[in-house]
Amino acid sequence: MKYQFYFGFFATIIFVCYCSKVESRIIQELSEFEVVDPPSDFRLSSFCPSGWKEEKEECVIDYQFVNSVEKNGGLGQSLPQIKLNPKVIDLGRYLFFDPILSGDKRLSCAHCHHPAYSLSDGRSQSMGKDGTGYGPTREGGVNLKRSAPSLWNVVYMDHLFWDGRASNLEDQAEGPLYSPEEMGSSQEIIESRLNEIPFYQKMFLEAFGKRGKKITSSLVIDAISTFERSLVSFSSRFDKWSTGDKDALSSEELFGYNVFRSFVARCAECHPPPMFTNNVFATIGVLDSGEKDFGRETITGQNLLRGSFRVPTLRNIAKTAPYMHSGNLETLEEVVNFYNEGGGRGNGAPSDLRIHWHVRKMGLSKIEISSLVSFLKTLNDETNMPKFPKSVPSGLPVALEFQSYHHRSSKK
Ligand code: HEC
Ligand code: HEC
Repeated sequence: MKYQFYFGFFATIIFVCYCSKVESRIIQELSEFEVVDPPSDFRLSSFCPSGWKEEKEECVIDYQFVNSVEKNGGLGQSLPQIKLNPKVIDLGRYLFFDPILSGDKRLSCAHCHHPAYSLSDGRSQSMGKDGTGYGPTREGGVNLKRSAPSLWNVVYMDHLFWDGRASNLEDQAEGPLYSPEEMGSSQEIIESRLNEIPFYQKMFLEAFGKRGKKITSSLVIDAISTFERSLVSFSSRFDKWSTGDKDALSSEELFGYNVFRSFVARCAECHPPPMFTNNVFATIGVLDSGEKDFGRETITGQNLLRGSFRVPTLRNIAKTAPYMHSGNLETLEEVVNFYNEGGGRGNGAPSDLRIHWHVRKMGLSKIEISSLVSFLKTLNDETNMPKFPKSVPSGLPVALEFQSYHHRSSKK
């Protein structure tokens, strides 16, 4: 049974991946999903992901650098303790990759938060419903107005979305799931479909015990959110350096870090380590690519907040281009030049924006700019990249791209 299951779906997926031109046709043919019996020996993983350690059958964050205040000062901050159930994490992972949650069974969370693009999608603006493919080559669907943030360390974000309209991951997930422009689903769709798939029935029972007997949309969201909470990134070269490994950064990168935290550039005022975000809203005057985006003002009604957005993390920033809510800056060099010219002040932002006083013309030299960019690249750390399920319990095709994913992961 197990082998038939894997063989069948591997074959389908490999076929889908290698024949991207006929992909849309295949997806339609498969749209009436096949129900798969769980292999009799299937078990959700009881191992904690990297960055976590097991304690009494739960995963607690294992951040070895927090308490070390050796030579370079450590991060000077301890991380709030969080406990996650490893089986729920694993179930959430399958759901995250499974298009069964979307109305037309064609879009999963992973289409826009994809491992190959460091849990973002490599696009200026994401593409929702009716699109085909994923990442930068996704086409034919509804254009959303903002770019997809990566999901690194979302567990520590106080506000979610660029405008902070959700305050926890559970509320956030309802956004893409139920929005007609994105996954176009509903509680009824999710519950009726998943309760008919024996594989999911088995997984929910294993993850949630008796509570999992009936699959509800809130358990689905609970599992996805638990999976998202596990996506931490705290093992970059910068982390190693900050806790005493003085060889972890080159002299150029260190110089770049000093520019980053200097009173001239002031990046660390809004992007302080270890999260590289202070979790608040700021107006820096990024231009929109199309329709005007008033950001936080739309949520609070306060004029003063026009064009302000939640400060994003800079973890893995070198892997999540293009940048900003509108995705209109292509490279890190462009970002630093934008700040160097005074942010929106020097780049034609509308005069009604109250641009933050830390963002002013800086007069950084070429060497300072290139070192700052080199420093930003030291924040790369994808050691906890989730494993890509090669098939999902619905049997629907997952957003897989073997070649580019392996190519990128081998460059790590
Ligand atoms: C069509 C592409 C698309 C799909 C599908 C999608 N997202 Fe997103 N995601 C986005 C975009 C775009 C944003 C930013 C939207 C905004 O801020 O208004 C976002 C924002 C987020 C955020 C907030 C991150 C932050 O730092 O504030 C989280 C968390 C998230 N998505 C998780 C999910 C989950 C879980 C799913 C599946 C249930 C999902 N997304 C499906 C495109 C997508
Ligand atoms: C006043 C607070 C503030 C300061 C100072 C600041 N930033 Fe930002 N940063 C933000 C905000 C807010 C955004 C998101 C703006 C948007 O999307 O419109 C952002 C976005 C970014 C992004 C893009 C992130 C992404 O995921 O797309 C990068 C990279 C970045 N900043 C780097 C820097 C650097 C380098 C400096 C110093 C030269 C700096 N920031 C100074 C607030 C700040």
